[in-house]
Amino acid sequence: MSSPQPRSRILGTGSYAPARVVHNTDLEKIVDTSDSWISERTGIRRRHIAAEGELTSDLAAAAGRSALDAAGLSAADLDMIIVGTISGDTPMPSCAVYVQQKLGAQEIPAFDISAACAGFVYGLTIADQFIANGVARHVLVIGVELLSRILNWKDRTTCVLFGDGAGAVVLGPASGDGRGIISTRIFSDGTLANSLVIPGGGTAEPLTPEGIEQSRNKVHMVGQDIFKVAVKNLSSASLIALDTAGMAAGDLDWVVAHQANLRIISQVAARLSLPLERFVLNIEEYGNTSSASIPIALDEAVRDGRIKSGQNVLFCALGAGISWGASVIRM
Ligand SMILES: CC(C)(COP(=O)(O)OP(=O)(O)OC[C@H]1O[C@@H](n2cnc3c(N)ncnc32)[C@H](O)[C@@H]1OP(=O)(O)O)[C@@H](O)C(=O)NCCC(=O)NCCS
Repeated sequence: MSSPQPRSRILGTGSYAPARVVHNTDLEKIVDTSDSWISERTGIRRRHIAAEGELTSDLAAAAGRSALDAAGLSAADLDMIIVGTISGDTPMPSCAVYVQQKLGAQEIPAFDISAACAGFVYGLTIADQFIANGVARHVLVIGVELLSRILNWKDRTTCVLFGDGAGAVVLGPASGDGRGIISTRIFSDGTLANSLVIPGGGTAEPLTPEGIEQSRNKVHMVGQDIFKVAVKNLSSASLIALDTAGMAAGDLDWVVAHQANLRIISQVAARLSLPLERFVLNIEEYGNTSSASIPIALDEAVRDGRIKSGQNVLFCALGAGISWGASVIRM
């Protein structure tokens, strides 16, 4: 089966991680945990944490500038900015408008996507549509999270898992040489909405002093529920995206999966019958950076020469919602 012709392609990638690095051993001093528990159960050894005063939009703008540079473009060339995040600077307006302001972009549409860890794949899918229908030529898609400020640092079941960071791509029209987004598919299942949730601070539960005391405005997760569904849905979405692209897993050069847990990635690799060596892994260094994890890993692998032009790459991500998706790209 031949692959559909891509309509958009990645012109440049970029990423940014805050300078401060927190090791597992640092967390041993805050909660009842251990370096061995964290690294054996998750693969995480370190995570980057934003400095006081550093904003989500600062991280996002830094990654965006780096992607624009790599694409050989400037902010004036952009037709749209899409930011996948659940930890924007303010509940209103979007993080994307702060990024627009910081980049000095024109009066273009700039908006956020709320799909948690799947935010980047959602953003990519939406950008691909706007480029395909000719409404936009250059779209900046950013995944960014500053989760350290919305974690309960007394809850060892969540605070050890996440980190801060941003990754970005600039998408532009495909040039007809087969390179670009060949397929991209997104899904949600709201029946699991409460398995990974910030329960307070929205209209369902406006914040009260008691709510703040009980960390209702912080991330709550039933880890095992998410684990099981992550392995199943990441695998099925990957196979659907591959099928839509007219490819099999064996045609892939690289998989850039959401970096939530090394055990999840290993089980997805087994279900796709792919060796773990085919996966770009950086969970050890960053922890789970939610929507930023795929574009950070992608940018690192592009810059260090692992991912090369013309190679077939699969992205797959799943997070709160639950929302998930997968994309097949020829770089
Ligand atoms: C969170 C996660 C790492 C927990 O790993 P797990 O193997 O499922 O561990 P469990 O939740 O069964 O906990 C096992 C034990 O470790 C304990 N534990 C939990 N966190 C701990 C920590 N940081 N340090 C030490 N012990 C910990 C638990 O209390 C439990 O103790 P018990 O057996 O005495 O009750 C794993 O479930 C996971 O990765 N889930 C999906 C995460 C995810 O993908 N999230 C979001 C998508 S973006």
